[in-house]
Amino acid sequence: MQKNVLKSGIEISELGLGCMSLGTDKKQAEPIIERAIEHGITYFDTADMYDKGVNEAIVGEALKKYQNRDDIVIGTKVGNRLKDDGSTTWDPSKSYIKEAVKGSLQRLGLDHLDLYQLHGGTIGDPLDETISAFDELKKEGIIRAYGISSIRPNVIDYYLKHSDIETLMSQFNLIDNRPEPLLDDVHAKKVKVLARGPVFKGLLTAKSNSVLDSKFSEGIFDYTYQELGETIASIKEIESNLTALTFNYLTSHDALGSIIVGASSPEQLDENVNNYLHSKDISLEKLKAAQDRVKDLNYTQHLN
Ligand SMILES: NC(=O)c1ccc[n+]([C@@H]2O[C@H](COP(=O)([O-])OP(=O)(O)OC[C@H]3O[C@@H](n4cnc5c(N)ncnc54)[C@H](OP(=O)(O)O)[C@@H]3O)[C@@H](O)[C@H]2O)c1
Repeated sequence: MQKNVLKSGIEISELGLGCMSLGTDKKQAEPIIERAIEHGITYFDTADMYDKGVNEAIVGEALKKYQNRDDIVIGTKVGNRLKDDGSTTWDPSKSYIKEAVKGSLQRLGLDHLDLYQLHGGTIGDPLDETISAFDELKKEGIIRAYGISSIRPNVIDYYLKHSDIETLMSQFNLIDNRPEPLLDDVHAKKVKVLARGPVFKGLLTAKSNSVLDSKFSEGIFDYTYQELGETIASIKEIESNLTALTFNYLTSHDALGSIIVGASSPEQLDENVNNYLHSKDISLEKLKAAQDRVKDLNYTQHLN
């Protein structure tokens, strides 16, 4: 498994495990995490809000026995404050971030975090205060590096210019290519992209037809349901292995840090890892031909 290096020297596996869809049953989640380790995956993505903290606890417990390995890296996220009624409210204040990190550390069973990410936010946030919270946590040795998860170009631009972020998490795959215009700036700042949604909920897998019907019946972005179906069919004429193709597309970008793929079973993960390995064999000609058949998307929502 290839590793990519963040500015601070932290190494992350090029295929990472997105832990959000592991569920709350330890017995189902742990075999997926174990399988990831067997495949050489060393980067694990979670967030404090996934299943109200249960996800961090499950990930922390499953990875506890590997704590003496210094190559396992966990990234978690902050910003969604859990209210007493179970709902969340956005809170990017310094006081909240510095308090919330203690909860994540406790649930993950760690004394410091490798990567701490702001889980969203808008340009109206107290951006410099938030940045200063992350800088202080880094100085205090509580976190080693920080990043943001964002689909807002103006927010991304601000953090690239005014903070020391090392990662940018965004949905990114062969169909959702919205991050592409931002990548020159991202790469110039030596920031690495964590590509979430790389198989687009299963649309870019062998199950594309059923996932199209079950999860994309309303279409998505600039695609109607029909256009999306036609595009997928047209791409398959070039390469039938859609996962290998989208992984090849993602790894073709110098800014890529890790493909954060989700899986709801060890078998899905096996398939995704095999397709990651196979993605290296796909030719540039095939990739270019496939790219010619998709729309060039831009961020048109969330501009403020
Ligand atoms: N704002 C944020 O920061 C943010 C937001 C979303 C996600 N994330 C992170 O990114 C990770 C990945 O995101 P995602 O779950 O949206 O993206 P994804 O990896 O594109 O989709 C994962 C889902 O696709 C299906 N799938 C995966 N492999 C498959 C296979 N081989 N065959 C058929 N179906 C397959 C499964 O759905 P079924 O369970 O239905 O089979 C799985 O739950 C998350 O786990 C989370 O860690 C972060």
